[in-house]
Amino acid sequence: MALQLRVYVPPHPLIRHWLAVSRDATTPSALFKTAMTELGRWLTYEATREWLPTLETQVQTPLAECPATLIDPEVPVVVVPILRAGLALLDGAQTLLPLASVYHLGIVRNEETLQPSFYLNKLPDRLDPRARILVLDPMLATGGTMAAAVDELVKRGADPNMIRIVAVVAAPPALQALSTNYPELTVYSATIDEGLNQNGYIVPGLGDAGDRSFGT
Ligand code: URA
Repeated sequence: MALQLRVYVPPHPLIRHWLAVSRDATTPSALFKTAMTELGRWLTYEATREWLPTLETQVQTPLAECPATLIDPEVPVVVVPILRAGLALLDGAQTLLPLASVYHLGIVRNEETLQPSFYLNKLPDRLDPRARILVLDPMLATGGTMAAAVDELVKRGADPNMIRIVAVVAAPPALQALSTNYPELTVYSATIDEGLNQNGYIVPGLGDAGDRSFGT
């Protein structure tokens, strides 16, 4: 599988631990939600490396002036959770990015055609092309939902080079589809799994991330 987009699977023990907890079919819903929050936190930490805009300045310590680096407040940082399951990653992402604007997208996948359709779109009409945009969806199965979300962002002025996707489980068909449509994207995922079953579920995966997060 030759991919043009960049995919990172950070080799972090906390990410591996919470992935194992989330995969376990006996994990109760409350602990599953905790696992998603932790994965949201650590994958966001990895994804914001060399991506958050910074500015160089000077600060006066009690002893001397020294060079310092701050997050540039002029460049918008945006988080886009894809409902429902992306909401489970949001708490963890927000602990690291408390000042980010959060724009929700509700996208449902038709279980027969597997095609995405929007039931909620809180994106503003225009996005600053400099905006750093983190899109949250734990499961990248076919890539259809994520591609539809990125289409909406790009239509509003987002630069795909500035978009980072945080997922928990990514499947090869999704990575291939996203790479074909948007080779500039970067994906951070806790794992890349084997593939999809006939119902479009990722195998081995972790089941339905929305149902398991919200106890439905
Ligand atoms: N969405 C899920 O929640 N799980 C899958 O395996 C695929 C899509």
